[in-house]
Amino acid sequence: MTDFSDPRFHPTIRPRRLRTTAQVRNLVAETRLAPAEMVLPIFLVEGAKDPKEISSLPGIFQHSENSYKEAVCEAYEAGVGAIMPFGVPLKKDAVGSGAVDPEGVLAQAVRLAKEACPEMVVIADLCLDEFTDHGHCGLLDEDGNVDNDETLKQYAKMGLALAAAGSDFLGASGMMDGQIGALRAALDQDGYRRTGLLAYAAKYASAFFGPFREAVQSSLKGDRKAYQQDPANSREALREITLDVEEGADIVMVKPALAYLDIVAAARQLVDVPVSAYVVSGEYAMIEGAAASGAFDRKRVILEALTSVKRAGAGIIANYWATEVAGWLKEA
Ligand code: PBG
Repeated sequence: MTDFSDPRFHPTIRPRRLRTTAQVRNLVAETRLAPAEMVLPIFLVEGAKDPKEISSLPGIFQHSENSYKEAVCEAYEAGVGAIMPFGVPLKKDAVGSGAVDPEGVLAQAVRLAKEACPEMVVIADLCLDEFTDHGHCGLLDEDGNVDNDETLKQYAKMGLALAAAGSDFLGASGMMDGQIGALRAALDQDGYRRTGLLAYAAKYASAFFGPFREAVQSSLKGDRKAYQQDPANSREALREITLDVEEGADIVMVKPALAYLDIVAAARQLVDVPVSAYVVSGEYAMIEGAAASGAFDRKRVILEALTSVKRAGAGIIANYWATEVAGWLKEA
């Protein structure tokens, strides 16, 4: 017979005391989300008359100039900390000419954002994949391999065009060796000492980028495994992050976020610069799809997912819900 008078049936230490009411739970919460930590990725399509919803990213649009400016202002009013514009050019070519054009769609996106809302922090994505007809993030050599050092030169030109357009930071996402050092050199030589660098330091060759390829109408046939990281590796991520900080990264990013929370936590331990993480298109689509099928409470799951990214160590969270979430957080 079990003896229920055993003291072990009447514990003196009771963690549940800290969970009794909403007010007590709020008092002891270790992690809180704030609108200012949210970064909104946003797509501008060159020459688009009207915004068009992206079928694999329900609720997210390929913007026209007008709807883009409205979305930027709406994000700012909701308290979103920054936007991360991506440009979809009308024409793509082998070297991604649109990317280095001072009048190209991404430089235009930076200017339009600053026109619409001068205070909004802008982190333009610095990568060639939206602009190349082969869809790779860099220039190809004769054998069809991505040529690291030729690509760095094109990144430098792109960086200068985006800095001239007024981008506060450049989000270097191409995963070329030495890209942060090369960009820092180009910016400093041309007097853009205030323009910062957000390094997509640990970026994985992830299948979670799927819907993004539709969003930017990517023409990629193969994969990016020769420059983005192998999902099997974590030490490699630490090496990439260390190198980027040594080369002058002001902020580092881990991407994707939800499937790589261990990397986010390790990054936070490793370096003293701000750590950000990007809840990518496929992670968005996964949650939206499950919510639409009635599997779970959409709002709770979004907040839980973002809280997990913050708890893991990211103080800046790029995500497609940024404006909506900032609104919820303001109300709360
Ligand atoms: C590269 C870039 C990509 C994403 C952001 N920047 C695509 C890629 O590397 O394949 C993906 C973002 C997402 O999936 O939400 N320009």
